[in-house]
Amino acid sequence: MDPSVSTHGSEDCSLQSTETDDDFAPSKLGTKEYWDESYKRELQTYKDIGDVGEIWFGEESMDRVIRWMEAENIPKNASILDIGTGNGIFLMELAKNGYSNLTGIDYSKTAVELTTNILKEEGLKNINIQVEDFLNPSAEMKNFDICIDKGTFDAISLSPEDREEAKKRYVGSLRTVLHPEGFFIVTSCNWTKEQLLQIFRPGFELVKELPTPRFQFGGMTGNSVTALVFKQINPQI
Ligand SMILES: C[S@@+](CC[C@H](N)C(=O)[O-])C[C@H]1O[C@@H](n2cnc3c(N)ncnc32)[C@H](O)[C@@H]1O
Repeated sequence: MDPSVSTHGSEDCSLQSTETDDDFAPSKLGTKEYWDESYKRELQTYKDIGDVGEIWFGEESMDRVIRWMEAENIPKNASILDIGTGNGIFLMELAKNGYSNLTGIDYSKTAVELTTNILKEEGLKNINIQVEDFLNPSAEMKNFDICIDKGTFDAISLSPEDREEAKKRYVGSLRTVLHPEGFFIVTSCNWTKEQLLQIFRPGFELVKELPTPRFQFGGMTGNSVTALVFKQINPQI
């Protein structure tokens, strides 16, 4: 990571809702208005002082995914989609680690503008960045070998609209954009491993749980962040 890039993120989660079961309250973090406003501020700060803004869940959250990809010998030209790329820092890290077929999408136009600015400044060309609502992806979004999600499913889960419907549409979009045997790597702080398995298992099998820091509180042990690798179960087989 470039030392001029400051990081605010840690494994703590400001996406987390106040409630602890899966019936957590909707939040402004589940709205496009919130993200547009937030990236408008971050874009201005980037232009003023070159700070790229928030790195959700910290740098380790990107490193552990990249380590898994390297251990699995994922080809450097595998097509990778970063769902809800935000400031695009994950794309930047992937590019710096040699991955060459990268696409980032975000439904916030300002996030896409911020990412475009950062990647240009870093001299990283040939990364495809576009405005897309993942819940309604365009026809060209298909056949990705790997889809990465860091915090976006969490944000979508906080939608003040029909949350169940949003989750269903997310899974449907994932099935559409991912290669029939592609990988989906999700990092979440709102959902436990068990909950994520329930949500994604019908069409996806768990390949690996990536180790994340554990906490102890009131005699209980848990993970503040969950990172799972799924593989799509090919419907043709
Ligand atoms: C918590 S931030 C995470 C950003 C980035 N993945 C990261 O790790 O830094 C959630 C991101 O999801 C984007 N987002 C939320 N809903 C989306 C949707 N339906 N389609 C595309 N992007 C979405 C937001 O604009 C925001 O950039």
